[in-house]
Amino acid sequence: MLTNTAQGPALYYEKLSKELEALFGAPVTVNAESITIGDRTCSIVDDVIILTDIDSAEPDKKQVIDSFGREWESFSDRKPEHEKEFHDYFDLIDLQALEGKTCADFGCGMGRWSQILLEKVQLQTLVAVDYSDAIFVARNNLRDHPNIIFIKADLETISFTSDALDFSYCLGVLHHIPSGVETAAKNIASCSKEHLCYLYYDFENRGVAFRTLFKLADLIRVVTAQINSEALRVFLSHVLTIFAYYPFVLIAGLMKRLGLNNSMVPLFYYAGCSYERIRQDAYDRFFTPVELRFSRQRINNIFRRLYSNVTISENLPYWHFLCR
Ligand SMILES: C[S@@+](CC[C@H](N)C(=O)[O-])C[C@H]1O[C@@H](n2cnc3c(N)ncnc32)[C@H](O)[C@@H]1O
Repeated sequence: MLTNTAQGPALYYEKLSKELEALFGAPVTVNAESITIGDRTCSIVDDVIILTDIDSAEPDKKQVIDSFGREWESFSDRKPEHEKEFHDYFDLIDLQALEGKTCADFGCGMGRWSQILLEKVQLQTLVAVDYSDAIFVARNNLRDHPNIIFIKADLETISFTSDALDFSYCLGVLHHIPSGVETAAKNIASCSKEHLCYLYYDFENRGVAFRTLFKLADLIRVVTAQINSEALRVFLSHVLTIFAYYPFVLIAGLMKRLGLNNSMVPLFYYAGCSYERIRQDAYDRFFTPVELRFSRQRINNIFRRLYSNVTISENLPYWHFLCR
């Protein structure tokens, strides 16, 4: 049973009592600054349920999480390009079929895809989960929506009720988990009837030049990801945007204008994007300490153990896939 004993955060979760109990499969009691789930009590900060303590994380995971907290605090607002990108990610999804459903955004970051989804579909409930302080940015960005449960948690330790979610999405998250995707993918699969995932591809459909360029960029990332100073990160994100991204983006843009196929040009996806949108991804790409890459076969190997059907989209961004 859910009870309220004070004003403030308790009021926020008062109307989500049934949803919380269904998600956790246990009785839930909400107080002003804490929530008791079964026999476990967690704090609530700005309507975010703090399920996993970051202090208990291993150093490499902590470094990843810290970096993302900083990234999404710097890039906290939605860009016009996100609308098109949303449709690219969700090309396999019948959005209208999500009407009235319970969904989750695993590794939500600042909540950009959920913002867009919620403008298109009226969900029963959305569960937004992130282990970094980005969850507070998401909380702020999604303030207009009353039916969201915000959880700060590690996807490697979550344990929600089996099939509690009709649909979940986890876009650009699992490939940043130092120990690999398997544990988090299993936890997500156990609670999600359907799941949309995006994992970085391993350039299997690209030539030698493309792969060599990527290896070079990755060598730079290994060094830049160790930089702690935020001022230096911001400065370098501008340098990298101008000197590493723009030459390719401009060529790809020109080819597009001339009606030529630009898909062999690295970073062609950014042709026509704004400077700040590109800088956001440059920051993401060069300051994230862990980045794993996946072939279609590896994705099938991992996710066919968890779902009976895995459909990998042929479209960019590679690889995003739907598990059912
Ligand atoms: C590249 S961002 C993507 C954010 C969001 N999905 C988007 O596309 O805008 C990766 C996010 O995954 C989160 N993340 C990474 N490892 C995680 C973990 N073990 N548990 C929960 N969240 C994690 C990070 O904090 C970060 O916000």
